[in-house]
Amino acid sequence: MSVVITGIGELSTHDDEEPVDGPFAVVLDGDRVAWTGRARDAPSGDTAVDVGGRAVLPGWVDSHTHLVFAGDRGEEFARRVAGEPYTASGIQVTVDATRAASDADLAERLRRHVAEAARQGTTCLETKTGYGLTVADEARAARIAAEVVDEVTFLGAHLTPTGTTTGAYLDLVCGPMLDAVAAHVRWIDVFCEDGAFDGDAAARVLAAGAARGLGGRVHGNQLGPGPGVAVAVAAGAASVDHATHLTDEDVDALAGSGTVATLLPACDLATGQPPAPARRLVDAGATVALASNANPGSCYTTSMALCVALAVLQGGLSVPEAVRAATLGGARALRRDDVGHLRVGARADLHVLDAPTAVHLAQRPGVPLTAAVWRAGRRVPT
Ligand code: NIG
Repeated sequence: MSVVITGIGELSTHDDEEPVDGPFAVVLDGDRVAWTGRARDAPSGDTAVDVGGRAVLPGWVDSHTHLVFAGDRGEEFARRVAGEPYTASGIQVTVDATRAASDADLAERLRRHVAEAARQGTTCLETKTGYGLTVADEARAARIAAEVVDEVTFLGAHLTPTGTTTGAYLDLVCGPMLDAVAAHVRWIDVFCEDGAFDGDAAARVLAAGAARGLGGRVHGNQLGPGPGVAVAVAAGAASVDHATHLTDEDVDALAGSGTVATLLPACDLATGQPPAPARRLVDAGATVALASNANPGSCYTTSMALCVALAVLQGGLSVPEAVRAATLGGARALRRDDVGHLRVGARADLHVLDAPTAVHLAQRPGVPLTAAVWRAGRRVPT
């Protein structure tokens, strides 16, 4: 079954050979992109859809969320906007609520948030465990996540839960907990920050994951400078996420590495942090991704469009750079070649904006600009 999408006013395929004079067309064949180019050259297909001069992008690749959770932290957020600083201690509140929830409740909440993201153009989404922090609860979160999302990360090393010591908990994370989740996850992550895990602990967690064939990710340099970036780069992690407080050495290390700097601008905003140095990273040659960090504590939004707007308005990126970071950058952070672009052979994940150009994403922040979404060649209800 092929679909010819015509009347595209602006097309971002992330293909170096992208034609410059529109209108453009894209042909989907089953779940793949089969053709892109000028509309007047387009082959015919089984069905045709005219998008009326709107802009078309690859679907967002949201490479950092924490969506297996229960409970609500609205009160914590209200205290924060009244002046209380964000600390990671609220994680335990979500851990308690998540442990008390049924499997069905967790799965239903996860599906609801993933559908909310998809309606806004997110077609590939990673999510993490990390609100269970027992062997059984982490294994349950990993299993539920694997049934719903594209990519699953084990974040047992999110926080040392109450009632144990960091040393004993790390033994559990790197041993029985890792054994229990390994079949459901592709990635292992660790929160490397003052008050969570130090650089040695983070390196140990990544090494334990690597020994089980898991790729590495690090939460690092979120609330202050620290060893997160250095540990991630040394371990060959796929990404270091947050990357808000960076030294010049951190920027140089990222630029000379295969580790993606995944920036979470909505989280920086919602936790009163300065914007991550997006411009500095891009200028230095680092690969940058933008992700939502959707979670109930530090950043409860699934809006990748907001992240793009903030990366432009506060982070100093151009609109094309920010769009690339939220699509191809996310794919690189997940080490995937099939998403984040619209080159022939890509998964047919398309985002039609209710705007003539992607510039509107930054020019009209907060306005819902998704007109239509295809994921793997199927129309997503919007
Ligand atoms: O990425 N940094 C650690 N974890 C999450 C916050 C989770 C929470 O506050 O519940 C984050 O911001």
